[in-house]
Amino acid sequence: MSDSTIETTRLGTDGPLVGVQGLGCMGMSEFYGPTDTGEALATLERALELGVTLFDTADVYGSGANEELIGPFVRAHREQVVLATKFAIERRADDPHHRGVNNDPAYVRKAVDASLRRLGVDVIDLYYMHRRDPDVPLAESVGAMAELVAAGKVRHLGLSEVTGPELREAHAVHPIAALQSEWSVFARGVERSAVPAAAELGVALVPYSPLGRGFLAGAFADAGQLDAGDYRRHLPQFTGQNAAGNAELVAPIRKVAEQHGATAAQVALAWLQHRTAAHGLTAVVPIPGTRRRTRLEENLGATRLVLTEEELAELEPVSARVSGSRYADMSSTADAREV
Ligand SMILES: NC(=O)c1ccc[n+]([C@@H]2O[C@H](COP(=O)([O-])OP(=O)(O)OC[C@H]3O[C@@H](n4cnc5c(N)ncnc54)[C@H](OP(=O)(O)O)[C@@H]3O)[C@@H](O)[C@H]2O)c1
Repeated sequence: MSDSTIETTRLGTDGPLVGVQGLGCMGMSEFYGPTDTGEALATLERALELGVTLFDTADVYGSGANEELIGPFVRAHREQVVLATKFAIERRADDPHHRGVNNDPAYVRKAVDASLRRLGVDVIDLYYMHRRDPDVPLAESVGAMAELVAAGKVRHLGLSEVTGPELREAHAVHPIAALQSEWSVFARGVERSAVPAAAELGVALVPYSPLGRGFLAGAFADAGQLDAGDYRRHLPQFTGQNAAGNAELVAPIRKVAEQHGATAAQVALAWLQHRTAAHGLTAVVPIPGTRRRTRLEENLGATRLVLTEEELAELEPVSARVSGSRYADMSSTADAREV
């Protein structure tokens, strides 16, 4: 692997310039098996060396531990790092499975201060609403987020898992730089209304779980292969009959990969790179998650991979054949509010 760095692109019309691939830091603290702090920190450093500048965390990852983990790295490279974090998902100490969604303006103000403290920084570059609570008017929540920009605590705003109409409503209150939603060869619901709205408004797409949480990359073929505490054991797409059928759907990705001497992960990421032109978007910046340098380097190889029209056509029908929902409980996803 050469040390040439990746190209840059802008998030939103006046958002930050970022490397065309970001890094998802979630798995470095929780959800996807054992963590290794030393390798995680080395992965962050290597990412920056290779031109990755968008680093993605959230207050909910490890209940704050992920923000604390990346804080010293961010502070050591404050001018180069574009720091993205999120609020809105609440956990309860007495129930590890509980997830509440809170969009109250008072909660937004409290959450940002807690994130700033854990990260040890004065300002967050990109602050996302992680999930939408339909009981709180969107204009009130985004209004509270806009006040954080005015107060200098946050530079740019983002949303996660919202529909096209919600993105438009929010953007009318304050410019939205990025929409972070699940988008991959397997998961294309975001194309229904959010992607067309983002294209029209100049909002960048930041696809999360671009590797289908590792499934598209062949990291596992059935959640039963994963550690007992692994979050993916609860996801319907990766268990039982669904997993068996879905594992076969990875074959076209592998076939395209073989044609290029590439890996399935690289093809899955290259497919997303082609979405920019396909949907008239200003930018698509996937944030594959990894805990290790070898995979980071592999994933960055995707930025040099261009797929042919025939190859894109082979991958086109895959998502329609996927069995099982993205989450066991879809109630707080954008899909639940699509009309
Ligand atoms: N907004 C939201 O609601 C939301 C939801 C989920 C995630 N996110 C964000 O998006 C980021 C990425 O999503 P994600 O981590 O869920 O899923 P992902 O990027 O699709 O997949 C991550 C998984 O794939 C494995 N992996 C990475 N590169 C690989 C490769 N080249 N070959 C084989 N396996 C590979 C990783 O394992 P290793 O660590 O062992 O490499 C990890 O288990 C997260 O880190 C988080 O920041 C946001």
